[in-house]
Amino acid sequence: MKTKRLYYEGKYREQAITEACSFLKAGEVVAFPTETVYGLGADATSESAVSKIFEAKGRPSDNPLIVHVANRKQLGGIVSDYPEYVEKLIDVFSPGPITYVLPSNYTVAANVSAGLDTVGVRIPNHPAAKALLEKCQLPIAAPSANKSGKPSPTKAVHVLDDLDGKIHAVLDGGSATVGLESTVVDCTGQYPVILRLGQITQEEIRQVVGNAERIVPVTMETPKSPGMKYKHYVPEVPLVLVQDQNNLQPSIDAERGKNLRVGALVTPPLAHSIQADKLYFLGKDETEIAQHLYEVLRSLKKQEVDIVFVAAVSTQAVGQAVLDRLKKAAIKII
Ligand code: TXA
Ligand code: MG
Repeated sequence: MKTKRLYYEGKYREQAITEACSFLKAGEVVAFPTETVYGLGADATSESAVSKIFEAKGRPSDNPLIVHVANRKQLGGIVSDYPEYVEKLIDVFSPGPITYVLPSNYTVAANVSAGLDTVGVRIPNHPAAKALLEKCQLPIAAPSANKSGKPSPTKAVHVLDDLDGKIHAVLDGGSATVGLESTVVDCTGQYPVILRLGQITQEEIRQVVGNAERIVPVTMETPKSPGMKYKHYVPEVPLVLVQDQNNLQPSIDAERGKNLRVGALVTPPLAHSIQADKLYFLGKDETEIAQHLYEVLRSLKKQEVDIVFVAAVSTQAVGQAVLDRLKKAAIKII
């Protein structure tokens, strides 16, 4: 299969959306941009279309997919009764980088929910995603468009690096602006429970609903979100997360002493003080770090370095979500 690159750009926009939509309607898989990361989309009502997503990604079939809809009405079409606070959350945060886990009314195919009686639903806020959903008038199941276990794609070229020849098309809408996946919130109980952090924080959700808990993804026997038990975002080169910034240089020096080529992921203030064989720049604040994190993780190559260190980042705003991803990407936290 040859993967078609459809440019969502200037005068080609409409044509690109029409073509992407006809692939989706024909039960094929198409990657498309969202404000968080690129998604790998298929008609959520078709079991056979959805199975192609699992196949292309190499995703375990017990890990459910997020369903993308154009608006609140379409959301209402795939879920059954949900708590009142969900309306408040939708008012404030949607369209945007937040996914609500709600009781399913079983309109979406069984393999979307991986056997659960809930469905994760998101109204994305990206012009290309919105245009595609409006045009198709279908709920679109879409996990991040990476090979399972790899960092999520924030550009069309990352999708092609992982899935070229395995999917029908990628809709190229430039770089994702948020850069990290959506905040996933279980909304089946009395108050929201955050299953995955994203740009929208626990504090912001609390301000709207009054209460919100966060599930800390330790190794749980039966994780609330099946995705929690899988290894994520693994770069090609082993990454070590250093909790205390003062230990960064000594850790680098120790590995260099063993004749290893050592890299460091650094923010601008550290760039002047840290010495390593190669420095990778993370961005100047939490927002920029979130935007570029996955691209930087994807750029770590065995030909250049043997091991890479990163110091824990500030946990302000989206920083907490960044730290969460770094913990999952690291082989070791010291
Ligand atoms: O920003 C995003 O969320 C991106 C874009 C494409 O929308 N999508 C994304 O999907 O990150 P994925 O599949 O990579 O991550 C979805 C996470 C997984 O950890 C999955 O286990 C969880 O959401 N999830 C999905 N449906 C669920 C459900 N019904 N109950 C609990 N967790 C669910
Ligand atoms: Mg993913």
